[in-house]
Amino acid sequence: MSEPLRVGVLASGSGSNLQALLDRFNLGDDPSARVVLVVGSRPGIRALDRAREAGVRAEVLPATVQNSEEDPEGDEAFLLRRLGAVDVQLVVLAGYLRLIPASVVRAFWGRMINIHPALLPSFGGHGMYGRRVHEAVIDRGCKVSGVTIHFVSEEYDRGPIVAQWPIPVMEDDDSDALAARVLRVEHRLLPAVVSGIARGRLSLSSAGRAEWVPPLCGAETFRAGPDDDVTTRKDG
Ligand code: GAR
Repeated sequence: MSEPLRVGVLASGSGSNLQALLDRFNLGDDPSARVVLVVGSRPGIRALDRAREAGVRAEVLPATVQNSEEDPEGDEAFLLRRLGAVDVQLVVLAGYLRLIPASVVRAFWGRMINIHPALLPSFGGHGMYGRRVHEAVIDRGCKVSGVTIHFVSEEYDRGPIVAQWPIPVMEDDDSDALAARVLRVEHRLLPAVVSGIARGRLSLSSAGRAEWVPPLCGAETFRAGPDDDVTTRKDG
């Protein structure tokens, strides 16, 4: 097989999705990809510890950038320099809460994905992350939620959809219970998608649609039952 796809992961919190990638590619036996850099949006987050424990380079946005909430261009030079320095080929936003500057989106167009804990285009957009998403899903009375992985564009949660996996919302769910069920699926779907990309199965059509050959990660591929009954017929 050719050289592993070089993956950079951006994270803002616990990093359990990062761990799923590390477990499959860096610590496990899938040679198709490798996490080579983790960037944290602030110091002290668990994601940075997970990277270091796996022997992966871990860096933090400079304090001046962390504090520029309204100025995403402040992130631009740092991200372009650090991702470029280690030849990152695919960027994964795994619970990363800052807007990606337009120049960085353009530099990695079709090579940057985000994981979101609901079925986009519902329950996405600015301010919709983590627990807030699950609370909104439950408040609306949805019977189905899910996981979406999409290419990153200049707007929050609006880029071409790469993969989705539906998950039932149970009558007595609170946001913690739903988040836990969704996370279990995220931890399977994200590594499967990265592996599929590394194997050259995903392309972005001229119409701006993500296309898999052979197909991957549609509702016909994955089934998710309540709680631990999260099953898949094939996950790439
Ligand atoms: C995940 O549920 C991810 O989908 C979500 O943040 C969590 C990060 O968990 N991302 C968003 O809400 C982005 N809009 P993790 O740090 O344990 O991987």
